[in-house]
Amino acid sequence: MSRVSIVDLQRMKAEKQKIVVMTAYDYTLARIVDRAGVDVILVGDSGGRYALGHDDSNEVTVDEMVIMARAAARGSERAMVVGDMPFMSYQVNDEQAVVNAGRFIQEAGVQAVKLEVGAEYASTVAAVVKAGIPVMAHMGSTPMANIGAGDFRSSSVDEDQVWRDARELVKAGSFSLLLTGISADLAQRITAEVHVPTIAGFGAGDHCDGQIGVTHPTIGLAAEELGRRRSNYGPVAVALLEAAEQFTQDVRAGKPVRSKRDAG
Ligand code: KIV
Repeated sequence: MSRVSIVDLQRMKAEKQKIVVMTAYDYTLARIVDRAGVDVILVGDSGGRYALGHDDSNEVTVDEMVIMARAAARGSERAMVVGDMPFMSYQVNDEQAVVNAGRFIQEAGVQAVKLEVGAEYASTVAAVVKAGIPVMAHMGSTPMANIGAGDFRSSSVDEDQVWRDARELVKAGSFSLLLTGISADLAQRITAEVHVPTIAGFGAGDHCDGQIGVTHPTIGLAAEELGRRRSNYGPVAVALLEAAEQFTQDVRAGKPVRSKRDAG
C-alpha cells in the first residue's frame, strides 16, 4: 500500500476531493485512524495534554513529541504522518528549527512537520523546506500565538495579516496551510487563491480542501467526555469505561475473563 504523498494531496485539491486529517499520538490509535482511511495523521502537540497529561500543549518537549511521532509513524501504513514542532523548537533561530525538524524525519520516521507560524517565520519555513523537509504551516489564530491570552478559538484576527501570512508562507514553500480560528468566509477565499491544499480547523468552516479532527474531542476519547458529552461521534471514552468496569466486575465475581486468543 503506498503512502499518501504531497502530490496526492495536490491532486485531491484539484479534483475537489476532501482531505481528511486526524490526530494520533501512539501506535494503536494511529493504526485505527489509518485503517479508517484518513489521508493525514497529525501527531499534534495536543498530545502533550491528551496523551501525556500536561496542563498545556506548550509544555511538551521535542523529545516527547519525537517519541509520540515515532509510535504513530509505526502504526500507520497509508496516511501521511506529520509531526508537530512544539513550542520553542523553532523560534530561537532557523538553524535550530532545521535540526529539530530533522529529528522528526530521522528519529520519528514522519513524512513532514507542522509549524505554527505567520509571515514573520517565512525564513524559518524556507530553511526547513530547503533542508528537504516538507512543512505544513498552521496559521490564523493558533494556540502558540495566544499563550496567556485565553482560548485561541475565540480570539480575533487581522484579516489583512492573515492574507499576508498565507501568501508569504506559501511563497516560502509550505505544502499545505492549516487554518484555525479564522472565519469560514476568509478560509474559503484563501482556499480559492492559494495553489496548496488548505485544511480547516476550529472555526474555518466547510469550504477548505480538507478538515482536521483532533481525535480525542472529536470522537469523545477525552476523559472529560465521561462527565459531559460534547462530541458528535462516539463517545469512545464511555465504551472504554464500560469495558473496563465490566472486566473489573467479572474478575471480582470470579467469572472467566480470558479472551478467545488466550483460550486458543
Ligand atoms: O496539536 C494539535 O492537535 C493541533 C490542532 C489544534 C490543529 O495543532
